[in-house]
Amino acid sequence: MSHTCRIELDGKSYDFPVVEGTENELAIDVSALRDRTGYITLDDGYGNTGSCKSAITYIDGDQGILRYRGIPIEQLAANSSFVETAWLVIWGRLPTPADRERFRELLTENQMMHESLRSHFEGFPPNAHPMAILSAMINAMSCYEPGIMEIEDDTILERAAARLISKVRTIAAASYKMSVGQPLIYPRTDYKYCENFLHMMFSIPYSDYEPTPEVARALNLFLILHADHEQNCSTSTVRMVASSGANMYASCAAGVCALWGPLHGGANVAVVEMLEFIRQSGMNVAEYVSRVKAKDSKLRLMGFGHRVYKNFDPRSKILKEASDQMLAGMNINDPLLDIARQLEEVALQDPYFIERKLYPNVDFYSGIILRAMGIPLNMFTVMFAMGRVPGWIANWKEIHDDPKSRIYRPRQLYVGSTLRDFVPRNLR
Ligand code: ACO
Repeated sequence: MSHTCRIELDGKSYDFPVVEGTENELAIDVSALRDRTGYITLDDGYGNTGSCKSAITYIDGDQGILRYRGIPIEQLAANSSFVETAWLVIWGRLPTPADRERFRELLTENQMMHESLRSHFEGFPPNAHPMAILSAMINAMSCYEPGIMEIEDDTILERAAARLISKVRTIAAASYKMSVGQPLIYPRTDYKYCENFLHMMFSIPYSDYEPTPEVARALNLFLILHADHEQNCSTSTVRMVASSGANMYASCAAGVCALWGPLHGGANVAVVEMLEFIRQSGMNVAEYVSRVKAKDSKLRLMGFGHRVYKNFDPRSKILKEASDQMLAGMNINDPLLDIARQLEEVALQDPYFIERKLYPNVDFYSGIILRAMGIPLNMFTVMFAMGRVPGWIANWKEIHDDPKSRIYRPRQLYVGSTLRDFVPRNLR
């Protein structure tokens, strides 16, 4: 069905086309609005603005649907690995056995950092935030790979993507090791992606950490579930930077900076901070929940509710199961995890949360999983970034491959001073 949108402005009427996505979503195409009418649209926070057409990820928040390249996240969680999902997200199809093998080899080949990059780490103070290090190091990596500036074909692109995905993991673990003053641990060729990260994080020279299958599986799921989430703040940032023609690494380094903000990548940190607050305050969980519910309370139950998913967050269902399985095999004694379990139980039965459709979101369970794995709090957002790199690369690729791609350049509504004269210094 073809639709048009008619706008009346200053007594004149204008028709604009309505475009339809493959899942029947409708959008008014206003790209000719300014040329034809002199008006622009104003949409603070872009809540109603489609910034691009994209074929990567589909979300239906009301029905709790998340699909990468058409494949439901539940199927990927049950059958795939992070590496395979990354390839799917970037290339738009599941890899053949030959693709898988080639990509696996590329990841292994590229897992070491250039030795000169190690000296960059020495320039950071011991308490440097790992997100600052990650962003700086991704940018620095581009200096060691001149080919990245001009990606001319898919073979070069695949190499560049494999390097980034592989090395981000090594850099993340190295930034942690530097922050705790331990020697950097080299990756092992016999380990898969997730096992290798855990090895580089937790092994020490005289004692190898051996990740259990449950822990490696939980990490795989965490990364799969974070691989893309359409036009969120960091992904839009990557596209914005990419639209200027910037290289893949520079664009993804900008994505890391956007993700660093507490309103974006920091929610799982806020979950653990809330649990710690409850523990230290000596309050019981029911007391804390009643404070949250009190009229005019500014407190929120962190890790509950979502702007887009209004019935449930499909990612949290999967992570809850993974966290239950992982914890069952771990024999952990952590008061914060006990508080989290009680909180989940109380909130899921409380009419306040039921009526407002406030269910635990992906950050609630990822906070629990990362803590149980022993990942320090300041590394949580780095873990999110590791997962999101394939989505950033895929979005960068969409811009790079599009011959009609234009530099992103939004307009504004100016609300500053009108024309006024400069006042000489002696008269101010
Ligand atoms: N705890 C207690 N009450 C809540 C919560 C919460 N976590 N979330 C929403 N509410 C209440 C609001 O007070 C409001 O109540 P009212 O109708 O009595 O005024 C009602 O639910 C609707 O709230 P909104 O703020 O309109 O919901 P919105 O969709 O704008 O907010 C958000 C979504 C920001 C995620 C919110 O639920 C929240 O702050 N959650 C906690 C923080 C969090 O976990 N963020 C991570 C989100 S996932 C991600 O970003 C990857």
